Amino acid sequence: MPRRLSDCHNVEDMRDLARRRLPGPIFHYIDGAADDEVTYRRNSEAYEAVDLVPNILGGVAEVDMSVQVMGTKLDMPLFCSPTALQRLFHHEGERAVARAAEKFGTLFGVSSLGTVSLAEIGALIATPKMFQFYFHKDRSLNAAMLDMAKAANFEILTLTVDTITGGNRERDLRTGFTTPPRLTPSSVWQFASKPSWALNYFLRSKFELSQLKDHVGEGSNIAISVGDYFSTMLDQNMDWQDAADLRAAWGGKFCLKGVMSAGDARRAVNMGADAIMISNHGGRQLDGGRSPFDQLEEILNEVGGEIEVICDGGIRRGTHILKAMALGATACSGGRLYLYALAAAGQAGVERALSNLQSEIERGMKLMGISSLNQLSPDMVRRRQV
Ligand code: LAC
Repeated sequence: MPRRLSDCHNVEDMRDLARRRLPGPIFHYIDGAADDEVTYRRNSEAYEAVDLVPNILGGVAEVDMSVQVMGTKLDMPLFCSPTALQRLFHHEGERAVARAAEKFGTLFGVSSLGTVSLAEIGALIATPKMFQFYFHKDRSLNAAMLDMAKAANFEILTLTVDTITGGNRERDLRTGFTTPPRLTPSSVWQFASKPSWALNYFLRSKFELSQLKDHVGEGSNIAISVGDYFSTMLDQNMDWQDAADLRAAWGGKFCLKGVMSAGDARRAVNMGADAIMISNHGGRQLDGGRSPFDQLEEILNEVGGEIEVICDGGIRRGTHILKAMALGATACSGGRLYLYALAAAGQAGVERALSNLQSEIERGMKLMGISSLNQLSPDMVRRRQV
C-alpha cells in the first residue's frame, strides 16, 4: 500500500492512496458505479481482450505524442474528462486539475456540477477548456450557464447525454453520500477518522456548486444525492432538437458525451457536432452497458473520418490509449484516473498521474516502434479469440 505520492507508480497506487486519505463515503462516491458494477469493471477489462503487435527497428529516439482535438493541439493523447464536486476530494479541486492539465498541455473539462466558477478557471489557465453541460428543466439556468461559459472564454461545450435519470449507485446508498455531505450519526466518525481531510474541508472556503448556486440550492446548500439531482433537476425529455438548439446557441466547438451506438454517432454527425465522447459515464449510469473500447470499432466503421471520436473510460495504462488510438480514436479521456490523484495529493498528485501516463505512452510508443501516433493502425492490434 503506498503511503506517499512518491510511492504511486500507476493509477491503482493513486486509488490506494486516495482511499487512505478520504472519508469512506467520498472515496466510494468516486470509486463506485451502478448496480453490480459490471460495466465499470468491463470498461478496463475490455482493453485486455485486444493485444498490441509491435514493429521493430523504427529509429524512435524522439517521439511526438501530440494530437489535434476540436481545433486545438494537445501535447498528449489523453485529457481530463469533466467530473463533479472536485473540492470535496481535495480543497483545491478544479484549480489543481486545471493547473496540472495546463502544465501537461492537455484539455481540462469543468462540470456543471463543478465547485470552482468558470470565470475563475477561465482566468487561471491559458490552455483549452471544455465546459460540460447538464441540460436542466430550468431553461433560465441553462441560458445562464451558456453565458458563463462564453464569458469565461471556454472553447468547447460538451453536452452529457447519459444522465437523464440517476444511476443506481448502491455504494452511495449504503454510505448515505450526499452533496454537500450530510453529517449523520453513522457518517460522522468516517469524516472524523480523516482529520486532515476534515480540517481542509471545514476550514477552507465553503463548499458550493459554483455554476448552479445562484439558481438552485440543491447540491450547494441543500444536501441531495447526485442520483436524485439528475432525476429531479435534469430534463428527461431532452432530444436531438434540444441538442441542436444548444449547439446553435453556443456557436463554438460542440461535443456529445455519452454516445454509445453507431446510429447515434451518425446522428451526431448529421447535427454537426465536432466530436463525440464514447462513454458510459464510468459505468455509473447503465450497468450492463457495453464498454467504450468495445464499441469503438463499430462506431468508427460508421463515422470514422467524419467526426472526432474520443474514447472515454476505463483507461488505466498508456497501452490502453495506444490500443484505442490504433483502432482510430482521435484521443482518450478519463475521470477517475486523475480524481484518485487529486484526492491523494492535490495538484502534485494530478501532475504525477499525468506524468506516469505520459511516460507509459512514450515507452509504449517506442516499444511499438512508432515515433508519432498517426503511425498506429488497426493492423497493429488483434482481438483475442475466445
Ligand atoms: C457522477 C456525475 C456527477 O457521475 O458525473 O457522479
